[in-house]
Amino acid sequence: MTELLWDGKYKDGKKQGPVRIALPFQTIETVNEGTEARLRSLELFASGRETGWRNRLIWGDKKYVLPSLLPEFAGKVNLIYIDPPFDTGADFSFTATIPQHSNSDEDETTSFTKEPSILEQKAYRDTWGRGLDSYLQWFYETVVLLRELLAEDGSIYVHTDWHVNAAARLVLEEVFGRDWLDTEIIWKRKDAQSFVDTYGMLHDTIYFVRKGKDFTFNKQYVPLSQDTADTWYTNEEAVKTDTTNSKGQLIPAGTVRRYNKADITAPGLRLGTEAHYQWKGQWPPPGRHWAYRKEIMQKLESAGRVVYSKSGRAYEKRYLDESAGVPAQSIWTDVSFVRGMSKHKADSEWLDYPTQKPEALLQRIIQASSNEGDLVLDCFVGSGTTAAVAEKLNRRWIACDLSRFAIHTTRKRLLGIPGVKPFVVQNLGKYERQAWQVAEFPANGENKLEEQRQREAAYRKFILELYHAAPITGRTWLHGIKGGRMVHVGAVDAPVTLADVKAIARETWKAVASGKDAPAEAGVDILGWDFAFELNETAKQVAAESHVRVAFKKIPREVLDKRAVEQGDVQFFELGALSVDMKQKGREVTLKLTDFTIPTDDIPEEARKAVKHWSQLVDYWAVDWDYRNDTFHNQWQSYRTRKDPKIELEAKHTYPEAGRYTVVVKVIDILGNDTTKTVEVEVR
Ligand SMILES: C[S@@+](CC[C@H](N)C(=O)[O-])C[C@H]1O[C@@H](n2cnc3c(N)ncnc32)[C@H](O)[C@@H]1O
Repeated sequence: MTELLWDGKYKDGKKQGPVRIALPFQTIETVNEGTEARLRSLELFASGRETGWRNRLIWGDKKYVLPSLLPEFAGKVNLIYIDPPFDTGADFSFTATIPQHSNSDEDETTSFTKEPSILEQKAYRDTWGRGLDSYLQWFYETVVLLRELLAEDGSIYVHTDWHVNAAARLVLEEVFGRDWLDTEIIWKRKDAQSFVDTYGMLHDTIYFVRKGKDFTFNKQYVPLSQDTADTWYTNEEAVKTDTTNSKGQLIPAGTVRRYNKADITAPGLRLGTEAHYQWKGQWPPPGRHWAYRKEIMQKLESAGRVVYSKSGRAYEKRYLDESAGVPAQSIWTDVSFVRGMSKHKADSEWLDYPTQKPEALLQRIIQASSNEGDLVLDCFVGSGTTAAVAEKLNRRWIACDLSRFAIHTTRKRLLGIPGVKPFVVQNLGKYERQAWQVAEFPANGENKLEEQRQREAAYRKFILELYHAAPITGRTWLHGIKGGRMVHVGAVDAPVTLADVKAIARETWKAVASGKDAPAEAGVDILGWDFAFELNETAKQVAAESHVRVAFKKIPREVLDKRAVEQGDVQFFELGALSVDMKQKGREVTLKLTDFTIPTDDIPEEARKAVKHWSQLVDYWAVDWDYRNDTFHNQWQSYRTRKDPKIELEAKHTYPEAGRYTVVVKVIDILGNDTTKTVEVEVR
């Protein structure tokens, strides 16, 4: 067998496969679910039954997400489209925008390019670190898992460009079998490329691969070219009275309709059958039969759809305005890239995502290779094109991306679809971190508990090093010291809670009074992966009461990879702080955002100057009016779009029943980070 080899494909003679750990997904948000559906879900969940289908937007690396989908979805996905990163660099940078401040008349919108985070750079190195060798291993592992997820009659479209298409094709043939590479589609994405030394590169290659013999395929049609229309539809006819064509379009009187005289016979004699008869005194030409039975022919005749040549030969009259076009072939030239000036039109689908593909491209693919209700998957969803088109075409979908900003862009894009069905936003959260802790910090204790202790100690040491803090011993809640302040390192699998903060503050206070490792001030930096809602304000207050100054800092996801860490200085950003004001009038509550601060280290100096008011940092905010300790349910939201860059700062809600409610407010800033706040309300 001919085989493509790359460095790293085999180890000790064994082909290296993908990671196969299946981690449970955590739902971090439910979007657009009505109250009744929510209650039903809660009841079903409590009784251990299936809660019904929800489309899923998953934030995570495909390396962990795909194997985690296998237990539930192996053999169940009908269609996969992937547009993996194959360009150099462009895939992870994004353009963030600081909107204009509402008090300003001039357009002062400022944009800047947000460089890839360390995690994204790491994924990029995973992919390209050793050039084509690492890319191919990465790609191979991806398609092996995707094939397992596909239904027996499912198919996959793999979008590539000239950088990798030759090698990708061989990998696809190896994983799926040569017989199942159905079509190599050439998508012409632009008309011309200036400033090139030789030939301009105008196309991408999309491989359409089937899992097997049976597969879904609905022919798609493209409009006739002007050339074909002019050559074929040469006859004309003036319409006498208003008419409706077979497409249901009104053809007003006076219109000149163009038509083609189509052959009304088909090859094969079919002598002695219903297809071989005399029509208007003529037999079909030798070796052919009539394409229609006599009754149909009569119907066509009375509808004026049969025309005759001078010699009396019958033809079918086919109008240009009724033409479905021609079936799409392997070269697609009719779908243009979202580009040029059209990008900036108000109704443009362009979302400033450099690698965004046009919806029309996905429409063709999804319509051709799936049916309504089918499940469509894209694990590199980027700006959300696949999810948005699948949603509009009534398919179920699962979309994943590693980039936080891609997930946020997709969420907003989906919310902009009228009547979008409820969907959930998920990640692998603590489970991914637990798996990481076990893999990265091996232990060899006498028993499980001892091993876990060793692991946690090694993990804390690692985080302290990244934070440039010195480790200390002999304390329960305090793990290090930096610049005269104590440091607490939160566990991988639990959020930092108010109770933790109380204990940390107590111990910090004791540490100040003690000799050994005494901090210079009663201050503590609390590093955590997750923080309980509302922690920032309440906990700071509690700590202040015990005369301890606390700062909450997020442990960035980047640290999940040691190698990534070696490359750069990991930043631990302070939690954003959000202030809201709540007013009540009977059962109606009005919630107002009154302040929002985020660490601005991630925003370039120049762009920072454009921030005149805190509200410019808010890109999106959403409210769950009745949080039930399950997941955040997005019941109201306001967000900026290019068409409508204004954001509301006030939301109203009327409770149908009296009671105590927990309201959760979630703000997503212009960089895609979220900050949450909880408010209690009692309505009578
Ligand atoms: C070429 S873009 C996809 C663009 C998309 N088709 C659209 O229309 O917007 C590739 C995407 O893959 C994501 N990505 C790269 N490596 C990934 C990984 N290991 N897991 C998940 N997503 C990844 C990037 O964040 C980027 O959004």
